[in-house]
Amino acid sequence: MAIVLAIETSCDETAVAIVNNRQVCSSIVASQIPVHQQYGGVVPEVASRQHLETINWAIAQAMEQAQLNWGQIDGIAATCAPGLVGALLVGLTAAKTLAILHNKPFLGVHHLEGHIYATYLSETTLDPPFLSLLVSGGHTSLIYVKNCGDYKTLGQTRDDAAGEAFDKVARLLKLGYPGGPIIDHLAQAGNSQAFALPEGKVSLPGGGYHPYDASFSGLKTAVLRLVERLEKDGGQVPVADVAASFQETVARSLTKRAIACALDYNLNTIAVGGGVAANSGLRKNLQVAAAKHNLRVLFPPLKYCTDNAAMIACAAADHLSLGHTSPITLGVESRLAL
Ligand code: KG4
Ligand code: ZN
Repeated sequence: MAIVLAIETSCDETAVAIVNNRQVCSSIVASQIPVHQQYGGVVPEVASRQHLETINWAIAQAMEQAQLNWGQIDGIAATCAPGLVGALLVGLTAAKTLAILHNKPFLGVHHLEGHIYATYLSETTLDPPFLSLLVSGGHTSLIYVKNCGDYKTLGQTRDDAAGEAFDKVARLLKLGYPGGPIIDHLAQAGNSQAFALPEGKVSLPGGGYHPYDASFSGLKTAVLRLVERLEKDGGQVPVADVAASFQETVARSLTKRAIACALDYNLNTIAVGGGVAANSGLRKNLQVAAAKHNLRVLFPPLKYCTDNAAMIACAAADHLSLGHTSPITLGVESRLAL
């Protein structure tokens, strides 16, 4: 199985891509961010409608950019879980229709597996095992990648995902949506040591703390209380300093857990994925810590950190080459463990 077309519509990007194994032939990402910005976040019904209006155009664009005809496509895939149900249905139904129409094997892909595979698009010779740090708007996980389809989740967030924390803090600082890139940009001009914020820890029943699980909701509340206090004192909120202190706390928490996990499991490579992998604070923290421990840390190019279909196609190409396919009756799931 070599050439795969995949569709990704789990949230607010209508994405279609074609890969030849780990080589990207085309990757179209039609972002809905400007549409959702006016509501301050993703509105599920609006997302579904936007996907429906854009999907055929995106498929045609992907085919045209790759300069391929349907006879050259070996398989069709789409994200089937987790995500917004209506949004997922648009992509999955489109993929099934194409598979039936052109008589191709069909495969549903887990969104997080796609984020794991994003690393392969730039590191085409990377082989498992390695540790995947997935940090997106919906997930924060440390995953032991043993092989294609063989994953073990070693750590996760107990409440907000890292990207969700960025988005919520940006909202309370009245900065707009999505919050991650805005906070990242503002943090460059701020002092990350200006405010000491609590790094969330997850207690273990027998005492002590979970070494890999994270918690971000307490941190978000701490930022809220800090802003309230600063406002009450009548002064202007030093937004860049708050952003930088918050970003530093998240980056430190993720770095500490990822490094501990990689060392404990004897994995010398950490592959970061998901939208928050674009964060400059996390990149810096993790690179410095990894170098100290002689670990390799890999970040996909920014365009493959956030949601895209090339990562889904890459995962599908591996599965299809192993003979894995999905029944055409496959449904979507809003929540599904990897
Ligand atoms: O992976 P992704 O595109 O979608 C999900 O699967 O959730 O991640 C989107 C998330 C959003 O929460 C966004 O604020 C965050 O990634 N994000 C960032 C940055 N760029 C995107 N967070 C921190 N720093 C960034 N530079
Ligand atoms: Zn994602």
